[in-house]
Amino acid sequence: MGTVEAPTDALRLDVAPGVVLWHGRLDAGAQRALLDDVLARVELAPFYRPRMPLSGAPFSVEETNFGPLGWVSDKSGYRYQPTHPLSGKPWPAIPPLLLALWDELTQYPAPPQCCLVNLYRAGAKMGLHQDRDEGARDAPVLSVSLGDEALFRIGGTSRRDPTRGVALRSGDVLVFGGPARLAFHGIDRVKAGTSGQIPGGGRINLTLRRVTPPQ
Ligand code: SIN
Ligand code: FE2
Repeated sequence: MGTVEAPTDALRLDVAPGVVLWHGRLDAGAQRALLDDVLARVELAPFYRPRMPLSGAPFSVEETNFGPLGWVSDKSGYRYQPTHPLSGKPWPAIPPLLLALWDELTQYPAPPQCCLVNLYRAGAKMGLHQDRDEGARDAPVLSVSLGDEALFRIGGTSRRDPTRGVALRSGDVLVFGGPARLAFHGIDRVKAGTSGQIPGGGRINLTLRRVTPPQ
């Protein structure tokens, strides 16, 4: 796997134990190349609108996935599956740039199996939740932001724990693991029109996860 050159002004910020923000980790050229790659793969696995378990209420974000396992949600619950729920086709592969970032920033001994792609159009947000559908909890979660700036919120492993807000801008990479692997997190809001990078507007988040423990 190649390396992804870090811009000289990239900044490592320790947000909380187990939570690291790599501010400006992807420069403008890398962001553009990644976005082009993501949009080409989305042609093969279009965004769709997941629904909440039980209630069937639609998410405000649209989602798709890359990699051998995709995370999906519908009335019957949350799960990982190898195919797109609408087309029945396998998900496209994870972009090589993201695999290289994962190796470099997590040093986990196995590749991620899921790249969840979240599209936030105007007004979309994501409530506080834990990422807990994975068997490989020793692996951190790595997330890349593209497009408009978002206000991300992260707390502790109890929903009642205090939280802090962190601005996520295009090119930022956030890694949470270890004591923060089950931290509650979400997106309060996206500041519409702050980047103009996403065709049609908004923000794309790419979340990499290892699902099953490596052999
Ligand atoms: C998520 O937790 O699935 C998404 C977080 C983000 O959009 O930054
Ligand atoms: Fe999450």
